[in-house]
Amino acid sequence: MALRRIFTDKEPALHKVCKPVTNFDKKLFQLLDDMKDTLLDANGVGLAAPQVGILRRVVLVDTGDEVLELINPEMVETSGEQVGVEGCLSVPGKYGIVKRPMVAKVKAQDRNGNWFEAEGEELIARCFCHELDHLDGIVYTQVMDRFLTEEELEEM
Ligand code: NI
Repeated sequence: MALRRIFTDKEPALHKVCKPVTNFDKKLFQLLDDMKDTLLDANGVGLAAPQVGILRRVVLVDTGDEVLELINPEMVETSGEQVGVEGCLSVPGKYGIVKRPMVAKVKAQDRNGNWFEAEGEELIARCFCHELDHLDGIVYTQVMDRFLTEEELEEM
């Protein structure tokens, strides 16, 4: 088990466009394994590689059933709309109101380079959008309506 440091949105890594993964090798496997440990340790739903300082297009999403490894992910289609609370491991202690699609389908490569599709609803759709944004240097605070107030935070 190896935990990586989670970078905050005060650091440049969170604001860069990430490069595609081209080598599906041991180094990638190590990154994926470390990111999984880091995500589970932090009790997060998703984690993107730039959040651990690696500017590559790699995302993990914990669907509740499994931790999906999404490499070079692309949004295939979205539908519907949801407005709800969103947080980010890189923006500790804060939450915002963000509008997202209700359903999102992504395609991505697995750790062996094979393409697959994954569809998510509600929280998972929100997470797909949030994590893919990270790969383009976008943090939810740039697309949210507003932060939750102190009062709203206390009620959570
Ligand atoms: Ni995030």
